[in-house]
Amino acid sequence: MTNSGARKYKIAAIPGDGIGREVVPEGMRAIEAAGRRFGFSAAFETFDWSCEGFLKTGRMMPEDGLAQLRPYDGIFLGAVGYPGVPDHISLWGLLIPIRRDFRQYVNLRPIRLLPGIEAAVRNVAPGGIDFCVVRENNEGEYSNIGGRLYSGTDDELAMQQAVFTRRGCDRVMRFAFELAKTRKQHVTSATKSNGIIYTMPFWDERFAAMAREYPRIRTDQFHIDILTAHFVRHPEWFDVVVGSNLFGDILSDLGPAVVGSIGIAPSANLNPEREFPSMFEPVHGSAPDIAGRGVANPIGQIWSGAMMLRHLGEGAAADAIERAIEAVLGSHGPRTADIGGKAGTREVGEAIAAEVGR
Ligand code: NAI
Ligand code: MG
Repeated sequence: MTNSGARKYKIAAIPGDGIGREVVPEGMRAIEAAGRRFGFSAAFETFDWSCEGFLKTGRMMPEDGLAQLRPYDGIFLGAVGYPGVPDHISLWGLLIPIRRDFRQYVNLRPIRLLPGIEAAVRNVAPGGIDFCVVRENNEGEYSNIGGRLYSGTDDELAMQQAVFTRRGCDRVMRFAFELAKTRKQHVTSATKSNGIIYTMPFWDERFAAMAREYPRIRTDQFHIDILTAHFVRHPEWFDVVVGSNLFGDILSDLGPAVVGSIGIAPSANLNPEREFPSMFEPVHGSAPDIAGRGVANPIGQIWSGAMMLRHLGEGAAADAIERAIEAVLGSHGPRTADIGGKAGTREVGEAIAAEVGR
């Protein structure tokens, strides 16, 4: 069954390591099912870049890897990282170059309590927790400016610069405010301007300036320490939470932990201007402890696929995948061990794909 003239997307799939290789095919299965129903096709090209590859070639990706990815409409990543290869190599050799060179300055993580999932916090109904963390993904505390002196002596020291630019703050904050316009009209800023006395007051100033441009959006801000407590005690307070690279990183793992298994949580690395492909990946890593057994939860990957379709303009297909996830979780459908079931990765993936096609 071909429908010529249908919308067609070229997707670069990077399964990576460990369970990445097991969950990416399930993400593809759901996307393909959505394509059949909504009249588009996704042409996946698989790139076998991984830590295993690094051990053979000394590189996480080829020298021209970014140029190879550039023409694609989206990048669908599993996870990278494996025992035997230091994490900073897998991160700085693949993920960070893609995020930075492709100006994916927004890391977006939706945090929603789904039906059939027991939250780590008590007395919340499905839908009672529904917010997004918008993490700055290109600069901030994760810079490679710095150095070490006098290694191995008593005078040894290490320094690392945090980099906050007006352009970098403004663009991620603007994304957060635009997102809030489509949701509950509320943006929270993560700060620490009492302790970090140059960059964080600057962040606060930019936040206040942006808030003035969006008078209809309610704003507040919390220091990161008490904000982590509020995430656990009052997750229902939040709508869109914007934070620097470091604070956003921490919050965007804490958020999914509050609403259940890390195996469910999705994320998007977005270049909102679409000058470059954006990248979609589950929050979890390669899970070496369960890899190779076909028991990983594929939902984080499948939900990330829905985020990719939404970014590509296939909102109805994205909604259908999210509803299918909720239907399978909320009914007595198959579930993996991390959320109290016995099913395998593929069984869950097939159940969701079947639901998407319904
Ligand atoms: P992890 O997320 O891989 O695993 C943490 C725990 O959660 C493990 O017990 C694992 O079995 C469980 N888990 C994770 N995903 C699951 C799923 N889909 N279904 C069921 N259980 C799941 O984090 P960890 O162990 O800290 O890191 C392992 C490797 O992954 C490291 O090399 C790390 O650098 C890499 N990593 C890569 C990321 C990426 O590619 N973006 C993100 C996080 C970690
Ligand atoms: Mg993290």
